[in-house]
Amino acid sequence: MKFDSPAATNPIDKLKVVGKPVHRVDGEIKTTGRATYAYEWHDLDVACAIGYPVGSAIAKGTISSMEVSAAQAAPGVLAVVTTLDVGGLKKPKRNTAHLFGGDKIQHYHQAVAVVIARTFEEARAAAALVKVHYRPEPGTFDLEKAKEAAVKPDESQEPDTATGDFNTAFAEAAVTLDQIYTTPDQSHCMMEPHASIASWNGDELTVRVSSQMIDWWRTDLATTLGMQKEKIRLISPFIGGGFGGKLFLRADTVLAAFAAKAVGMPVKVALPRPMIPNNTTHRPATIQRVRIGAERDGKITAIAHESWSGDLPGGGPETAVNQTRLLYAGANRMTTMRLATLDLPEGNAMRAPGEAPGMMALEIAMDEMAERLHLDPVEFRILNDTQVDPEKPERPFSRRNLIGCLMLGRDQFGWERRGKAGSRREGQKLIGLGMAAAFRNNLVMPSGARVQLGRDGGVTVQTDMTDIGTGSYTIIAQTAAEMMGVGIDRVTVELGDSRFPVSAGSGGQFGGNSSTSGVYAACVKLREAVASKLGFNSDDALFENGQVRFGNRSVPLSEAAGSDGLVGEDRMTWGDIVDTQQQSTFGAHFVEVDVDVFTGETRIRRMLAVCASGRILNPITARSQVIGAMTMGAGAALSEELAVDLRRGYFVNHDLAGYEVPVHADIPNQDVIFMEETDPRSSPMKAKGIAELGICGVAAAIANAVFNATGIRVRNYPVTLDKLV
Ligand code: MOS
Repeated sequence: MKFDSPAATNPIDKLKVVGKPVHRVDGEIKTTGRATYAYEWHDLDVACAIGYPVGSAIAKGTISSMEVSAAQAAPGVLAVVTTLDVGGLKKPKRNTAHLFGGDKIQHYHQAVAVVIARTFEEARAAAALVKVHYRPEPGTFDLEKAKEAAVKPDESQEPDTATGDFNTAFAEAAVTLDQIYTTPDQSHCMMEPHASIASWNGDELTVRVSSQMIDWWRTDLATTLGMQKEKIRLISPFIGGGFGGKLFLRADTVLAAFAAKAVGMPVKVALPRPMIPNNTTHRPATIQRVRIGAERDGKITAIAHESWSGDLPGGGPETAVNQTRLLYAGANRMTTMRLATLDLPEGNAMRAPGEAPGMMALEIAMDEMAERLHLDPVEFRILNDTQVDPEKPERPFSRRNLIGCLMLGRDQFGWERRGKAGSRREGQKLIGLGMAAAFRNNLVMPSGARVQLGRDGGVTVQTDMTDIGTGSYTIIAQTAAEMMGVGIDRVTVELGDSRFPVSAGSGGQFGGNSSTSGVYAACVKLREAVASKLGFNSDDALFENGQVRFGNRSVPLSEAAGSDGLVGEDRMTWGDIVDTQQQSTFGAHFVEVDVDVFTGETRIRRMLAVCASGRILNPITARSQVIGAMTMGAGAALSEELAVDLRRGYFVNHDLAGYEVPVHADIPNQDVIFMEETDPRSSPMKAKGIAELGICGVAAAIANAVFNATGIRVRNYPVTLDKLV
């Protein structure tokens, strides 16, 4: 089904199940430990061996030789497979760095061997006995230095944009700001490590894996192993978080596949926590320059955003300027992105790639500009709202209620209590309020599903969509229940298996809206199958209470299904509609902090997010997404930073002891308000993304609150106490 006109009224709009606060349908098996995460399939027919990976101890160079005899002779060891054994493997396009195979080292902790043993302890002990001899080469690890030699990335990234005449307008502006902001490298730190269990049956490979994108992973594994895709089955029904770190094929799957072949039995491989930050991808550090020029009344006349980031050869930039092209009005504007070559591990997507770090800079700049203009920061943003794409005035936003979010948030949060910077003190705490806008584009992806009506009148949905903790099972069950007119308890949802129709997968906050749209399309097909079997026209049929009704004839779905049942399968694709108007998601973040006058320690007291993001399919799961994102934003603001060893070229704090993410005690009080909104241009669901919107702007709101508390403007994240005392 092609979506190419604004969605008219459809069965979803009944909102009997969709839009309701339905608790997670998979909650019980998760909380009782029965959900099969990748490492936790305990009832396979045959025993599993354990593979323990070995990572490179250098950042760049070649391997001259490897000594594995001691490891092979160690107790319990079944085999050792090295990168030299398997030779050069074809690299899929979605991976920037090679994952395994050959003698080239592109980054620290690149996988160089896997040791397979009967038990985890034996495998780990033997892995320490593998000796690798390297010929190291000098590398480039310092973004600040490499920035000078940075080049224009691929044109598809739109590295240079310009509208009007920025330079003249900025030079003539009554009030201006020109500042540099930096954001550090960050790690996804999902709870569940990357893990795979590989098993071979002849030339067919099955991998139980933790993947956000089944079809990408499967395609890229086939390329890497030189196999036909059809011979590979991936199963990933439960995923303990991803945040972008599990979008692309990773080394655990490749190592498990080779290991299982070597020992002739299934092998499970998890990346040990201390290996994840350097072995996998990370959010690249940025250096950003923001310039804003305005009239005395606060109207922006000139706005420019430039960003520098680095990646391995063949990689891409962190697109930190994207939101600045769309968020505020202003006739004269420009953005640039430049990409430096760095020999650090691969930079890639992490929750709201582009906008998350971009908003960290832009929204401090807006706060600074409001201060210079003697304007309230909420007022300043309202004054510079735009209902059209500022680069293409003929292109409106499909829905844009940024002003509504700002005004409601201001009222609900008690913004009027905000005083001058450094003016509020309680004992040894300085108190501050800060805010920022939230912005993230709304993407859509093709998504397919199969829906079966069983002879008992129950409905089963199958799609390779993943649930990375987001609530996919639940919103898909709600969608099918609404479409087929059955209770949610009559719907079974099966996800994360490459035998099911290819879905959007979980990424870019497109998963919820896109995958439910695919289920919608399949349900339309199933409704047609039911109607045609009974001799109805499906447009005239009413599906409710487990019955299909046509005029005054009513037939139970179980009867309509017959003894063989009925099936509908389809795929939602996206027509021109997504191009004719700009689709974005909006919000506002408000934060209260206190800062200790002696230690400089910042504590968050309260957070509020107001979001305008289309129809909310389930307020419980959507709220969880937003508070999770706000928590991640708190980490970005106050603690998260991969420290780069500039001599040896690796992330030093590569575990959860050294890389600090927020814990419950750091986040006392969070609130989320969703604005009433439907976006008929976004999909038949009239929903949009929400999961990444929630992080965009949070860190700046916190940094702005710290400024309001202390009068100290920190422009280099994270805002740690050493920068305040
Ligand atoms: Mo998201 S960074 O596309 O998982």
